[in-house]
Amino acid sequence: MNTDTKTKGHERLMALSEASAGEAPIRWPDSLDDGGLCFAPDLMSLAGTADFDGMDDAAQRRLALFEAANFFSLNIHGEAHVIDGITARLNEPRFAAHRGYLRHFLEEEVRHSAMFTTFCRRFVGKIYAERSLAMSDDSGPEGDLLFFARIAVFEEIVDTFNRAMARDRTLAPIVREIHRRHHVDEARHLAFGRNFLKEIVTARAPDWTADDRRAVADKLARFADQSWRLLFNPDVYADAGFDDVFALRRRAMASKASQERRDWALRGCRRLLSRLDLDAPVVS
Ligand SMILES: [Fe+2]
Ligand SMILES: [Fe+2]
Repeated sequence: MNTDTKTKGHERLMALSEASAGEAPIRWPDSLDDGGLCFAPDLMSLAGTADFDGMDDAAQRRLALFEAANFFSLNIHGEAHVIDGITARLNEPRFAAHRGYLRHFLEEEVRHSAMFTTFCRRFVGKIYAERSLAMSDDSGPEGDLLFFARIAVFEEIVDTFNRAMARDRTLAPIVREIHRRHHVDEARHLAFGRNFLKEIVTARAPDWTADDRRAVADKLARFADQSWRLLFNPDVYADAGFDDVFALRRRAMASKASQERRDWALRGCRRLLSRLDLDAPVVS
């Protein structure tokens, strides 16, 4: 991509970010008693299991609320890593050309976290604890690549859910609105990430052996798998009233429905990694 095209692309993303920053604040309802669910039934981590089918409507509604809080909590923790990593890089000379847009990126992640935190605190009274998301080896020669590629992988997965739930009319309006707002901003983050990652890979590739490339690809595949697993949270199942939550988690993850959902949720990040020639089979 030549410099002019790159600058125009940045200017367009910055203009869109500025427009999005001017959007009216969310109007939070006092309660969620409007009939809509908080998570799409076919996207819940237990969907397609006998355990889920055995729940009555009220129990499924409660599970949906906790699944939503888990999904939003994962975003809060993921965005905290993004905010820390971008803040640490922002003033580095090698990011000079991208600094303007990265400032918007940062502001938007802060805004998303505030939105997710409000939902969790207001309607569930807590944020689920962070379990583990290995984003720590982002120093060294592949540090920038791993950092921005993990962001893009995580955002691809999240945005697949955002797009589906933003248009699902069975969901509570506030839940749809949160997904819609997040999707609008994340579409820009993903567009930036695709171009920026291509630049980084193009710059790094001449120094790589086949093993170096495979090592990066393996780390990203593991990260995608790990991100998927975080959607199955034993704390959610305990809150929803289940007893043997770890056995339930294993059953849910092994179900045919969840394998199909995983294929669907990871399609975007597989496409991204394949375009960068960084795809690898996931080792589970
Ligand atoms: Fe975000
Ligand atoms: Fe983002």
